[in-house]
Amino acid sequence: MNLLIEDLRVRFGGVRPLDGVTLAFDSGLCGLIGPNGAGKTTLFNVLSGFVRPVSGRVTADGADLLALPPHRRARWGLRRTFQQEQVVAELSAADNLRLAADHLGGPADQGLFGFCGLDDPSRPAGALTLLERRRLELARALVGVPRIVLLDEPAAGLSEAESRALAEVVVAVPDKFDALVVLIEHDVALVSEVCATTAVLDFGRLLAAGPTAQVLADDRVRAAYLGEEVT
Ligand SMILES: Nc1ncnc2c1ncn2[C@@H]1O[C@H](COP(=O)(O)OP(=O)(O)O)[C@@H](O)[C@H]1O
Ligand SMILES: [Mg+2]
Repeated sequence: MNLLIEDLRVRFGGVRPLDGVTLAFDSGLCGLIGPNGAGKTTLFNVLSGFVRPVSGRVTADGADLLALPPHRRARWGLRRTFQQEQVVAELSAADNLRLAADHLGGPADQGLFGFCGLDDPSRPAGALTLLERRRLELARALVGVPRIVLLDEPAAGLSEAESRALAEVVVAVPDKFDALVVLIEHDVALVSEVCATTAVLDFGRLLAAGPTAQVLADDRVRAAYLGEEVT
């Protein structure tokens, strides 16, 4: 799976959250990092169809993604999670998965819970721990035939040990589903552990992209994270 983003521009009034981003994601688990407000979520919003760019192209294995309405993108295999939790607290985990599957018009493979490490999906989502809800959200993003999976800070709010437990599942997704996974993650140390390649956004522009170790050693990347720890 090759996701090619070309000269993408988004404007909200005078704000330019994406200001001419050209970037390719190739298979596997790819990191997407950058300071707060860099445009990471906006990029996911464009890819999933919530935000329309003023210009630019996005192709997935040659197919013009921007030409498809959001629900067609989802059926095509584009999946995402949100920074804000999307699970319905009153419904069981199993029913939350069914709801996601219904939207896609496909079956809810309950085996996804085993893969995502969620025991007893008959419990209401509201009774799950934060880590368990994140496992559920991941399962929701994997129903049907996912081809591109966009994860927006799935580890936010988790402890370091919990983040690593969740990351163990995330790293297994590309091989298991033959899907490209793009992971937005605040913890740069975690990204360097699990992502072979990483892209860095800053003020709506691409700062660096390539093998993670090389990207994190880049002076411009280190400067963008000034005051934050880059290990
Ligand atoms: N709907 C919106 N209307 C106006 N400005 C927005 C909107 N969404 C995001 N922005 C602005 O765009 C910039 C990028 O935001 P975002 O993509 O959420 O960054 P990140 O996810 O990297 O923290 C920020 O300056 C943010 O305030
Ligand atoms: Mg964001």
